[in-house]
Amino acid sequence: MNKIELKPGIYYVGVVDWNLRNFHSYDIHNGATYNAYLIIDEKIALIDTVMAPFAGELLDRISEIIDPADIDYIVSNHVEMDHSGAIPDVMAVAKNAVIITSDPNGLKGLRAHYGTDFPYQQVKAGDVLSLGKRTLTFVSTPMLHWPDNMVTYCPEEKILFSNDAFGQHYTSTKHFDDEGDIAQILYETKNYYANILMPFAAQAKKALAVVETLDIELIAPSHGVIWRTYIKQVKELYRAFSEGVTENTALVIYDTMWHSTESMALSIVEGFTRRGTKAKLYYLKESDLSDIVTELLTARYIVIGSPTLNNNIMPNVGALLTYIKGLAPKGKKGFAFGSYGWSGQSTGIINDAFIEMGVNVIMDPIKINYIPSKEQLIEIENKVAALS
Ligand code: FEO
Repeated sequence: MNKIELKPGIYYVGVVDWNLRNFHSYDIHNGATYNAYLIIDEKIALIDTVMAPFAGELLDRISEIIDPADIDYIVSNHVEMDHSGAIPDVMAVAKNAVIITSDPNGLKGLRAHYGTDFPYQQVKAGDVLSLGKRTLTFVSTPMLHWPDNMVTYCPEEKILFSNDAFGQHYTSTKHFDDEGDIAQILYETKNYYANILMPFAAQAKKALAVVETLDIELIAPSHGVIWRTYIKQVKELYRAFSEGVTENTALVIYDTMWHSTESMALSIVEGFTRRGTKAKLYYLKESDLSDIVTELLTARYIVIGSPTLNNNIMPNVGALLTYIKGLAPKGKKGFAFGSYGWSGQSTGIINDAFIEMGVNVIMDPIKINYIPSKEQLIEIENKVAALS
């Protein structure tokens, strides 16, 4: 195995899960990494672990550097099992190790997952753990995105071990930001933030304010690349996301039965284009929800269309609305559209969902009976082009 050294005595010992395509219902395209880090000092610390099935690979990587039995501390920045899953396997070997976790929610979470027998040491924001020449300081980041979250800072090495924050589901045999396609890495960072952290913008803003006070040369998250060259860019992305900065972009998302709602969607795209708004069209049968919400993070408009099916909306429009509602996007403008045969409830259902999730509804639903005529399609285009 290749040894990956961040700085002398500090190693990447994580794993690449090349085949993962769904991360707790979030569709991903290229797998994921679970990053763990090993610090060799007078005391040896392992920062986070990996998902349980990869415990053997983690221990193999550690064994190339030291005997895992010599680990003194496992710092658990986050209870979620993609980072804590291998703790029992590591503890089975590292008999004298102590698990460092946040007070009180890290401890509660780890005990609920792995029982009460392991030796735990709780830490609060600002606590310092000495490893010898180096120290670790803990920064509390609650609800980013679980109650227990914290990040760990090593001031002597200027490394922030940021766990989920600044992470991405990006896989490569290379582990630094300047060793891959930075445009793709930044896109995956947006994708990760949108699908995992979007509901927690206020917490992200607070965490970013703390991070800004630290002198950082490396940000080592628990997913994706280690930031060393593009730290300014990723911090700027997080600033924009957490402040809800939007672009003049509209998402037109639809499902269709006999292409009538689809024709309406195309006219809406034309209307937005005429008014100078960049529009993106998503046909739900061919699109991943995770890609749509990635664009939604920075889009100004969200427009959703469905024909009426059995007095209701199409099932995948329902799935979209459920997913978006949970992510609680802020400051969006939108409206509903769709065709119908006789009862015509779909647009009202979408409209109500928009109101419930706080979308600013800027137009009454556009409903067309059966098949839109050429004149009706032009009228839809004109209406959207004339939006103030
Ligand atoms: Fe990567 Fe919230 O776990």
